[in-house]
Amino acid sequence: MADLAVDDLRIRLGGNEILKGVSLTLRRGEVAALLGPSGSGKTTLLRAVAGLEQPYAGTITVGGTTVFEGAAGINQPTEARGLGFVFQSYALWPHRTVAENVAYSLKLRGIAPDVQRDTVQKTLDSLGLGKLGHRFPHELSGGQQQRVAIARALVYGPTVVLLDEPLSNLDAKLREEARAFLKELIERENLAALMVTHDQSEALAIANRILLLNGGVVEQAGTPQEMYNAPETLFVAEFMGSNNHIEGQIMGMSDGRASIRIGDHLLDGQARCAPAKVGQAGSAVIRLEGVHVADGANGGQNHVKLDLVTSMFLGHTWEHLFRGPGMTIRAHHDGPLSSGAHWLHLPADRVWIF
Ligand SMILES: Nc1ncnc2c1ncn2[C@@H]1O[C@H](COP(=O)(O)OP(=O)(O)O)[C@@H](O)[C@H]1O
Ligand SMILES: [Mg+2]
Repeated sequence: MADLAVDDLRIRLGGNEILKGVSLTLRRGEVAALLGPSGSGKTTLLRAVAGLEQPYAGTITVGGTTVFEGAAGINQPTEARGLGFVFQSYALWPHRTVAENVAYSLKLRGIAPDVQRDTVQKTLDSLGLGKLGHRFPHELSGGQQQRVAIARALVYGPTVVLLDEPLSNLDAKLREEARAFLKELIERENLAALMVTHDQSEALAIANRILLLNGGVVEQAGTPQEMYNAPETLFVAEFMGSNNHIEGQIMGMSDGRASIRIGDHLLDGQARCAPAKVGQAGSAVIRLEGVHVADGANGGQNHVKLDLVTSMFLGHTWEHLFRGPGMTIRAHHDGPLSSGAHWLHLPADRVWIF
């Protein structure tokens, strides 16, 4: 049985359809990432699960209990849903200590003061904040504040935690560390975590399952590997990873294969779901790491000769920008390249044609 199940959820806000029938299930020990561009409905979905927005249709069950059912008029208040919520801004009370911030939900539930103290201390210890209970939020680093927000969500032992862009206020280096910390915590505490992010690399790293939202519907859902390696639509292909996008004309299509003409070049690739028709305009997409610099080649299928425009050292690799008639390609390569023309190989199994 799923610990969180959302079925065909629909929400209207200010006269607009914001969620147009979204479903998901989540089990303990799992992270589901709600990924999508700004305005796609991620926060609205999280708030609806928490009982902070009211859908007009659909169902939400938490731990087997129906907390919302549009048709039956069931709508439990937030505090009865047994969820932990980590807000994007942390929303810590500035004039309360760390311990008081974390204790708040226990106090609300009328837990005895000595039990409150023990539970708060245990939670702070488990998050590496054991010695900071007496401090005020402004006396903490950004990373520590973020952990206090997580401690506050976990203190009364919810099964399901909802996190809205929990890492977005941290700088790049801290964000990477916090990502590993959060994943380990979710597995260790055996939580079911629903996490909003707009950052595809964060979703790939931390989630067991990704739901990519686009305009209030799930465009595609799957494991990080499925989302990255087998995008069903152009939107998904472009949202995940770093891509080259080349426009051309579809020349042929058979058996899951397609070919596309770009200027003087004819590229073969994989035809993705619902691709354009033969003769029509289409798009080829290939990841930067899918392109190979193939100097020494002299033509051949899916080889193109382009001029090097500029190069960037990225630390673990180089990124080169090439250009020719009708085609601009970025590629990773493990070293610098001489100026002038280079052969590039765009392997047919790495080219997606939409
Ligand atoms: N209270 C509201 N009234 C009207 N429209 C809203 C309200 N809240 C959010 N929206 C709209 O709903 C859409 C989705 O918002 P949101 O869920 O915050 O997106 P995300 O978190 O994916 O960036 C946006 O277009 C936003 O303007
Ligand atoms: Mg949001």
